[in-house]
Amino acid sequence: MTLVGYAELPADTFAAGPASGAYSGGLRGEARFPSQPVQGFSGVQFGPQGSYWFLSDNGFGAKNNSADSLLRIHRLNLTPKTAPTGTGRVEVGNFISLRDPDRKVAWPIVGEAGPERLLTGADFDPEGFFFAPDGTLWVGDEFGPYLLHFSADGRLLDAPIPTPNLAGLPTLRGQAPVVVGHRGSSGTRPEHTLESYRVAIEGGADFIEPDLVVTKDGVLIARHEPVIAVVDAAGKVTEATVDVASHPEFASRLTTKKLDGVDVRGYFAEDFTLAELKTMRAVERLPALRGRAYDSQFEVPTLAEVIALVKDVEARTGRKVGLYPETKHPTYMAQVAGRDVSQLLVDTLKKEGFTDPARVFIQSFETANLRDLKANIMPKAGVNLPLVQLVSSPDEAPYDWTAKGDARKYDALTTDAALRDIASYASGVGPYKRWIVDEKAQTTDFVTRAHAAGLLVHTWTMRNEPAYLLPAYKNDPEAEMRQFLRAGVDGLFTDFPATGAKVAAEYTAAQVRSPQNPAFSTGAANAANIGSSGGFEGLTLGVDGVTAYALLEKTVAGDVSGQLRLHAVNLGTRQWALAGRYPLEDTANAIGDLTPVNADTLLVLERDGGSGAAAKFKRVYSVSLREKNADGTLKKTLVADLMNVSDPQNLAPSTVAGKFTFPYVTIENVIVLDADTILVANDNNYPATGGRGATVKDVNEFLWLKLDQPLTLGAGVGRR
Ligand code: G3P
Ligand code: CA
Repeated sequence: MTLVGYAELPADTFAAGPASGAYSGGLRGEARFPSQPVQGFSGVQFGPQGSYWFLSDNGFGAKNNSADSLLRIHRLNLTPKTAPTGTGRVEVGNFISLRDPDRKVAWPIVGEAGPERLLTGADFDPEGFFFAPDGTLWVGDEFGPYLLHFSADGRLLDAPIPTPNLAGLPTLRGQAPVVVGHRGSSGTRPEHTLESYRVAIEGGADFIEPDLVVTKDGVLIARHEPVIAVVDAAGKVTEATVDVASHPEFASRLTTKKLDGVDVRGYFAEDFTLAELKTMRAVERLPALRGRAYDSQFEVPTLAEVIALVKDVEARTGRKVGLYPETKHPTYMAQVAGRDVSQLLVDTLKKEGFTDPARVFIQSFETANLRDLKANIMPKAGVNLPLVQLVSSPDEAPYDWTAKGDARKYDALTTDAALRDIASYASGVGPYKRWIVDEKAQTTDFVTRAHAAGLLVHTWTMRNEPAYLLPAYKNDPEAEMRQFLRAGVDGLFTDFPATGAKVAAEYTAAQVRSPQNPAFSTGAANAANIGSSGGFEGLTLGVDGVTAYALLEKTVAGDVSGQLRLHAVNLGTRQWALAGRYPLEDTANAIGDLTPVNADTLLVLERDGGSGAAAKFKRVYSVSLREKNADGTLKKTLVADLMNVSDPQNLAPSTVAGKFTFPYVTIENVIVLDADTILVANDNNYPATGGRGATVKDVNEFLWLKLDQPLTLGAGVGRR
């Protein structure tokens, strides 16, 4: 590829208008500039009589420092230097002023009171634009992100058009996945306490999970195990959820029992009355990891008290939190404690009036009690609650099988036939998470097969602590949760339900919204699902004159990292569709601009975040709208490597030994001039430095590049 023309616009180029640059971090100070900067270009289109329109970016890089930067599209006349003795010239002409005199923007804008309601860089962040065949102007914004529709002279015609979240949810019926507070919010409070459940609900859990064991007097209480403190041969407590070992009056209850075939020494819930258990206080089960800040404060709750908590939340807030009780060790409970935990559960739910099937899932690691619940216990009680078959790791087995001499393990519950059988008595499966994502962080076909059997999939257990995360997540618990949501799970058990609720809300949001979306400045909880400056960096009109292509700069939360949504928007019907997913060469890269080549092909600018010597990757790719890679992403082909341009005539002042590079952090303008030539220009992020030297103010450079391979142009593409 060869540089065949070059021009530049000095950094300090201003147009008429009020002084600017007074804001920093949202605070107003002294204006740094006497009028309005011209440059900081983020989009280019052909203008009249051989000129070009260049869109000025939102000003000084952020919402809170650009309130005095007026949004404009400048007309430029470009004369390239094409020979060593020639001269390149850039002449700045008139501009289109973007404004909202008809009050189409529903929220207060900076220029609210002004007669023209001029739009500023604190209102929108314009990154791409085009003129439609009817002459109207469309602009892609990053704050919404929105599409903005203006008249040819910059008057906003419609309310900002939000970006629909087009990723269909891969859950069983497309419903939102649920977040289950595992043992409450057990990552932040001692598990199975009312405080733990309260914090889980406060954090946004859809369901809270009481594991259930039975007291001596037949009351269901929330504990993970019948053994409430494990004691070794030396008398040391090795794991406990209550302070029973510090109650000398209970010392004689220390005993050894066979729990699911294994000798366990400790204190057992079924050896204490509820009144005795109420004299104890909960302690942290994992103190080395989670500390003891909340030890000895909270009681052991009964199931009835957990139900009362949920009812109280509903009465006070209207929020209908659900219960996800687990019948713990049903075979042991029957054989050792002489209790039918499943029957007790249904009796308690009925007695407490909590039998709405939309608000209860009953789970068990055993199979027989679930079948009994379905066939006998629930019908006799006149209730019909959804059941969930828990499926542990393949080295373990349902104890009801083991107790009967059946040697099968949990993997026997994961075949297609077994899943179909589970569907005969249960609504869902609760698999250990490695059935869905393996140790190499690869997603298996488990969810697909369970869904094919008609089963919900509620997996466990997500934990924020790095010790529980695969290396692939780089200590980011949200990354793990997103992978499971992408895999299509219908629910997540997590020790940190606030994190789960945040990730699920981002994933299921009806719109793609950035942290700068105005909804979040008017009190709505910030559930942004795309990062700052991640909006429509790329916006162009397809050669059919009807389809706008809008490419996001960052990955939407929940999507595969490094894949960017390309939208096709029909300007007539205003319908949005996903045209494909653009795969970045590196997840840290970003896109800079988008322009059509023909009906099937677009050009995309892709760049790294480096500037000057740190810049390594600045490229133009052609992207097929028809051909896909094996992973379903759009197929792309390198068209121009802007870090390796031949400049045999030394047209650019920076060229060394015939080699030109374009090491600006942002390169946001590309347009096809003819089959052999593209025009590329940087966004100089005025008043940034670094592209051509640490102390040199970045200019705007304009490159005419002759391609090694000609493009196949569609109708109307190129300078006419
Ligand atoms: O019940 C499913 C989930 O809670 C994982 O099991 O051992 O924590 O009760 P567990
Ligand atoms: Ca459980």
